[in-house]
Amino acid sequence: MVEFALPKNSKVVGGKTYRASPESVEVRKFKIYRWDPDQPDENPRMDTYEIPKEECGSMVLDILGKIKDEIDPTVTYRRSCREGVCGSCSMNINGTNTLACTKRLSDLGEGDVTIYPLPHMEVIKDLVVDQQHAFEQYASIQPYLQTKEPPAPDQEHIQTKEERDRLNGLWECILCFCCTTSCPSYWWNGEKYLGPATLLQAYRWVADSRDDYTAERLKDLEDPFKLYRCHTIMNCTNTCPKDLNPGKAIGELKKEIIQQS
Ligand code: SF4
Ligand code: SF4
Ligand code: FES
Repeated sequence: MVEFALPKNSKVVGGKTYRASPESVEVRKFKIYRWDPDQPDENPRMDTYEIPKEECGSMVLDILGKIKDEIDPTVTYRRSCREGVCGSCSMNINGTNTLACTKRLSDLGEGDVTIYPLPHMEVIKDLVVDQQHAFEQYASIQPYLQTKEPPAPDQEHIQTKEERDRLNGLWECILCFCCTTSCPSYWWNGEKYLGPATLLQAYRWVADSRDDYTAERLKDLEDPFKLYRCHTIMNCTNTCPKDLNPGKAIGELKKEIIQQS
C-alpha cells in the first residue's frame, strides 16, 4: 500500500525564544519560520522573538529589520524598496500571503504574529523561497511589446486614452507571487499551469493595443495545463496585496480565446 507521509525533517518544531528585557511592560511575540540549508538534517523550527510594544514600529518589515539588526542577524528574508513596489518581501503573515513592507501591524489584531515563507515554493533559507520556476514561466509569455512592423526609432507607439485605460489593474502587478502561491491549482500543477501572476501578465500584453501578437499569444495559452487549470477558486484575487484581480484577468483571457475561435 502506498504510504503518504512527510519526510521526518519536514516537520516544523518549536525553536528558541528570544525574551524581551524583564523591564518591558507589554511585549508582542513574533514567531518566525527558520530553516538553515547548512544544517539540512535539522527540522525547520519556529523561533519566537519578544518585542516591547512601544518598539514595534508600524509595518511587519520594520519588525524583521529590528530583529535582524538588534536580536538575531541570522534571520533571512528578501526586501528592497520597502514601499510595495519591488515585490521581494512577499511572505505568509498570520496565514495570508502578503507584503511585509505594506502590512500594518495594526491590521493584525493584538495577538502573536506568525510569519512563514510563501507556501509551496522550495525554501532556500528561512523566509526566502526559490522563485526560479515562476520567473521562467513569466519569461515564457514573452512579457514585452512585439510589433510586426520594424520599430520607427523616432516615433512613439501611439495609443488612445481608452486603449491605455484597458491596462489599468494589470500594469500595477509587481510579480510578488502572493497570488500564485495561494492558488490550489498551482500547488498541484505548478510545473505546467502558469498560475495567476503570469496569466495576469499574459493578459496585460493581450490587452495592449500596441502589441501585434495577440493571436499568437492566445494560441500559445490554449493548452489544457497552461491556462485551463484555473478553476475560478479566486484565492489569487483575495490575497493580492495590490488589490488586483488576477482571477478576472484569467477570465478575460478565456473570453478572448473563445472570440478568436
Ligand atoms: S481563480 Fe484560478 S488562478 Fe486564482 S486561485 Fe483560483 S484557480 Fe488559482
Ligand atoms: S497579481 Fe497581485 S499578488 Fe499576483 S503577483 Fe501581481 S501584485 Fe502580486
Ligand atoms: S520591500 Fe519591495 S515590495 Fe516590500
